[in-house]
Amino acid sequence: MKHKYDFLLEKAREAAKLAYCPYSKFHVGSAVFVDGEIYTGCNIENASYGLNNCSERTAIFKAVSDGHRKLEAIAVTCPDAGEDSPDQYKMPCGACRQVMSEFMDGDGIVLIDRVGEFKVSDLLPKPFKL
Ligand code: THU
Repeated sequence: MKHKYDFLLEKAREAAKLAYCPYSKFHVGSAVFVDGEIYTGCNIENASYGLNNCSERTAIFKAVSDGHRKLEAIAVTCPDAGEDSPDQYKMPCGACRQVMSEFMDGDGIVLIDRVGEFKVSDLLPKPFKL
């Protein structure tokens, strides 16, 4: 089905090809839409495993570091999740959901490749906020 943010999904798929994931070999790509601009991101791993940065946070931080504060939509894709894999293989992790809630409204759009469209508040109903 054609979706308003399909162009964003295409950008996320391109970004996934650039993932630095020699440890997990699990490519993830994201693309953020804000004020008519697109910011892409991939997961970036490290030999010290805990220093990994997920693709969603890479894309969000690129947008925020360019001055954006209220992101409209984010698309995420996990091309290495198999055709028959459960949806949970393709969903954003908890840390990324919390970061989305910092820089997106509750009704901001999260488009997840081969899963569907969600609102930020669907993915993190009671976020920590100050
Ligand atoms: N990963 C993401 O990039 N985003 C998520 O929301 C979940 C996991 C990455 C982290 C790691 O590089 C690889 O997927 C396997 O966990």
